[in-house]
Amino acid sequence: MMSSASTCHIPLVDLSLQHAEIAAEVAEGIERVISTGAFVLGPDVTEFEREFAEYCGVAHCVGVANGTDAIELALRAIGVGPSDEVIIPANTFAATAGGVVRAGATPALVDCDPRYLLIDAQQIEARITSKTKAIIPVHMYGQLAPMPELLEIAQRYGLRVVEDGAQSQGADRDGRRSGAWGDLAATSFYPGKNLGAYGDGGAVLTDDSRLAGAVQRLRNHGGTAKYQHDQVGFNSRLDTMQAAFLRAKLRRLDKWNDLRREAAERYDDLLAGIPGVTRPAVSAGNLHVWHLYVVRVPRRDEVLARLNDGDVSAGIHYPVPIHLLGAYVHLGSGPGTFPNAERLAGEILSLPIYPGITPVQQERVVEHLAEALR
Ligand SMILES: Cc1ncc(COP(=O)(O)O)c(C=O)c1O
Repeated sequence: MMSSASTCHIPLVDLSLQHAEIAAEVAEGIERVISTGAFVLGPDVTEFEREFAEYCGVAHCVGVANGTDAIELALRAIGVGPSDEVIIPANTFAATAGGVVRAGATPALVDCDPRYLLIDAQQIEARITSKTKAIIPVHMYGQLAPMPELLEIAQRYGLRVVEDGAQSQGADRDGRRSGAWGDLAATSFYPGKNLGAYGDGGAVLTDDSRLAGAVQRLRNHGGTAKYQHDQVGFNSRLDTMQAAFLRAKLRRLDKWNDLRREAAERYDDLLAGIPGVTRPAVSAGNLHVWHLYVVRVPRRDEVLARLNDGDVSAGIHYPVPIHLLGAYVHLGSGPGTFPNAERLAGEILSLPIYPGITPVQQERVVEHLAEALR
């Protein structure tokens, strides 16, 4: 029996619930930063970097301005530049490809597997050329890419691995966290992420102190000591206030990820009897953190329109694979090149999920979805 209908709108993400829990710490953080004047690379940044590195199980975290910069700076730190190729999945957010291009290199795309929607490790070797320098696995929707297989390939061909962990803070595979697999990892603290700031933010994680130093220089005008600029760098620092907010959220990340997992399990149960819906699958060994709960449905655009016309906000992550986006058509991969990514782009539908979504809200989402599918 579904619960009685209320007419409240159900958003795709509701950040106000998280804010209510940390409001006092946010206010204290603002006061601390303003009263000390430590606006840029202040103590909260250093503390957050230490805490997040420890949380992820790596030696170093370097806070940067956003997740796209994190990808670019991580690639630059390992010397990726013009004439290099970097392997990425075809079904990711545009920023993964953007980070590669901004480092001066060319993205080489690989299709995803049709079950988990993660980069298909079996198709990677065919894309490796003499120009390939690195692989960027993307931990899509909150579960890790097939890292053991991928690291084996990278090692065999002498390639570097830079994780794109923008959607996977707190996820792990066989107990090893997102961010602790690659030579480096990039992540994003865009507000809607599992660990989201109150504006833009990002970080690079690594165990290698030399690479951490390279990213520290790149993010801060090419030097770490005042007025010593050893190279041309960027202004890409994690803002101190954002770091203060992220520290408050990091303390609750595991609890919030547990709530996301409970919500995902509830969707799994509620959707079990709905014809036409393919539920998301979790790859063995993965602890999923459900940044997004992505189902597959027939007549997706019509279903999405019906949900959004009603009480339920749903989304598509992402409607166009990288090779078919205007910015990347010059890569020369036309329609039909990556059949899984292309087919899935027409079927995927992200349902509302966030810590604090209620069982009643989820029942209503599923009621509306079932109705839209009839
Ligand atoms: C998979 C992925 N990579 C990279 C990014 C880029 O992060 P940002 O928006 O912080 O630049 C995002 C999020 O926006 C993302 O989802």
